[in-house]
Amino acid sequence: MNAKTEKVVRKGDWKVTMTPDDIYRHPMDIAWHFDYIFGEEKVADLYKRAKQNQWDADDLLPWDTPVDPSKPLINNEQDIYHKMSFFKKLSKSQQETFTAHSTAQLLSQFLHGEQGALMTAACVTHSVPDAGAKLYAATQTMDEARHVEVYSKYCDKIAMVYPMSPWLKALIDATLQSDRYEKVMIGMNMVVEGLALGAFNNMYRSTTCPLLKQLTFNVMRDESRHVSFGHVFLGPVIKNLHKDDVEDLAEFAFNAVNILVQAQTAGTIANRVDPGFMQVLENSGIDANDFFKGLQEAADEGVAQTLPPGQVHALKDLMMPAIARVGLLTPTVLKKYEEAGIPVFDDPRVLVAMEGGHPTGEAAAAE
Ligand SMILES: [Fe+2]
Ligand SMILES: [Fe+2]
Repeated sequence: MNAKTEKVVRKGDWKVTMTPDDIYRHPMDIAWHFDYIFGEEKVADLYKRAKQNQWDADDLLPWDTPVDPSKPLINNEQDIYHKMSFFKKLSKSQQETFTAHSTAQLLSQFLHGEQGALMTAACVTHSVPDAGAKLYAATQTMDEARHVEVYSKYCDKIAMVYPMSPWLKALIDATLQSDRYEKVMIGMNMVVEGLALGAFNNMYRSTTCPLLKQLTFNVMRDESRHVSFGHVFLGPVIKNLHKDDVEDLAEFAFNAVNILVQAQTAGTIANRVDPGFMQVLENSGIDANDFFKGLQEAADEGVAQTLPPGQVHALKDLMMPAIARVGLLTPTVLKKYEEAGIPVFDDPRVLVAMEGGHPTGEAAAAE
């Protein structure tokens, strides 16, 4: 990290380090579109829903709700780390400190990810060669601005912002730096937002903070439209592309998923090369070697793989089905998933339920 640009922020009792601002040039195609035909019915419907469901966080959310940053914001039984044998041996205060900090680190990823989403949505607005999709992408841009606003405000309340995880930055940068708008939509509306929708759902389910619950519920409703957009607009576009172009997009989707999968440890975002996560361990007084050994043991025992009822697995339930249904699991790319050890899922039931405005996928889970 560049020491000159490193910005160290002290909030509350804990030291958190922000990565330096990052600026790069990117020549993206800009597409004017003069027919002003907003024809595609499903995209027009999403645009209408987006207009009708705009919300003002100042009016809607109970910002005066007291939040104690030193206390866990989530229910322990829903937390994957609490199932580790190693974790159960820690003192109660160490467990609480870790839970508070790891939740803050996760919320920080929501915040940074929303900034990335804001930029990708703006990018789709100016690069997509379709009048209706431009209008829809503009509403998504406003949605993402609101999401940055609410997560920033919530992080201020808990007085902690952790740096962006390198894998999330790499994933969003690969998306923003791609050479065509379809890739921007695959990277954001299918992969990152699939991940986000899963994480928001699980946060909604597990948080004990009424403000965070309500905030997450509203953000999730917006996100379900964003994931739908990836399907209803891009699905038909991909169907009409030359097979070499489809292959190019399928490979891009694979690479994006692979960044995410390779960064995880035992299905969690805990990672040794993530300075923010290592800082969580340090702030909680937990030895990193012991922690990752414990996490690996939990994975070997299959403990980490079992999700509590109602929680969704972002890769299995949202991302892979989204990629599959637009035809991006080609035979060539399926081999790559196999070589990388990434299981392929194409059951869209949870995805469809969440797109339909069921925030927790309960409709699918209840079947
Ligand atoms: Fe968002
Ligand atoms: Fe979004």
